[in-house]
Amino acid sequence: MLLNVSKRRRLRSSSPLRIFEHLEEEQMHVKGEASYHHLSLIVICNDLIEEGDLVIVYLDVRHLYPITIKRDEVFQSKYGALKHNDCIGKKFGSVVSCTKGWVYVLFPTPELWTVTLPHRTQILYAADISLIALQLDLKPGSIVCEAGTGSGSLSHALARAIAPNGILYTFDFHERRVKVVQDEFEAHGISSIVKVAHRDVGSEGFGLDQVADAVFLDLPNPWDVIPFAVKALKPSGSRICTFSPCIEQVQRSVEALDKNDFRDIVTVECLQRIYDVKRLTQTVINFDDLENDYSLEDRAKEDDLDDDEDPQPSTKKIDKNGSPSMQKNCETVTHWTAVPPLQTPGHTGYLTYASLVCQKIFDE
Ligand SMILES: C[S@@+](CC[C@H](N)C(=O)[O-])C[C@H]1O[C@@H](n2cnc3c(N)ncnc32)[C@H](O)[C@@H]1O
Repeated sequence: MLLNVSKRRRLRSSSPLRIFEHLEEEQMHVKGEASYHHLSLIVICNDLIEEGDLVIVYLDVRHLYPITIKRDEVFQSKYGALKHNDCIGKKFGSVVSCTKGWVYVLFPTPELWTVTLPHRTQILYAADISLIALQLDLKPGSIVCEAGTGSGSLSHALARAIAPNGILYTFDFHERRVKVVQDEFEAHGISSIVKVAHRDVGSEGFGLDQVADAVFLDLPNPWDVIPFAVKALKPSGSRICTFSPCIEQVQRSVEALDKNDFRDIVTVECLQRIYDVKRLTQTVINFDDLENDYSLEDRAKEDDLDDDEDPQPSTKKIDKNGSPSMQKNCETVTHWTAVPPLQTPGHTGYLTYASLVCQKIFDE
């Protein structure tokens, strides 16, 4: 994730949005006639854990906890007390002893933040997030608009995808959520890439004019926001994605996309399939030996028998399936394998993508 500040970069940027001006003023350094953002962000994580770092404490695959390292503090888990002091100076990914066992202390990637963050809303998870990043064609330098910010799960992943010189403008009309997520972006060292604003994009739009490479909408009524998205997006080649749990919402969004000159409209339902890792014992047949014992000629003879003709008693052993015994040709092996559980995979929502095509180009 874009946490701990390890690199400082100066990057040229435009200043497209009024409501973010106060943020930009703080960060802008005027050098000669050119304006620069003074960005602090991590590109490569620090190897060693320092005081103030966010760390993901990994007990097992279902028990992961985010903690901020503070001198003399203690984190309690089923493996006893973990002293923060014991983490300081250790490499991310190290094993650290507790009073009743040990834990891993992991670097907080966006994926780990998504599974450990405090929920204020429903959030997006890795399967959908990876499709969104791919389909929106995000890369370093992309300008992205997002609404609503919610718990910031997607925002962290978007920030990493567009770093170090992209900008994510993210909006939510819930004031308290905006405040909390803004503090998190600050604490995680990504506030220079992520600009969060308190705003109802359904009635006020984004306040951006033809600057965004991509717009992402995760709110109940994306169709109301789509006309505003057109204004925010670059006039050609830009992409939009809406996330909706219900197919009726998808229908209304697709109608609005079509009406607003979006093309290549595609809806995808991303289902996550979980595999259990189990130890399985299986029989392995040695086909080479089998062929010697039970030649194709023997098989042909059996096949040639008329249905009503009784086969001669065979000298070969017949196993319970009616085929010659494979006992001596078989061995059993036990190995680890991935087995899909019988449960139906859960539905999260539908992702609808589309491209904005400049109408002039489209008409030609
Ligand atoms: C499901 S959450 C988004 C979760 C987010 N994608 C994540 O991964 O954490 C939806 C958010 O949209 C916000 N919202 C709904 N309608 C809105 C609107 N018209 N303008 C701005 N925000 C809105 C809600 O306050 C809520 O926080």
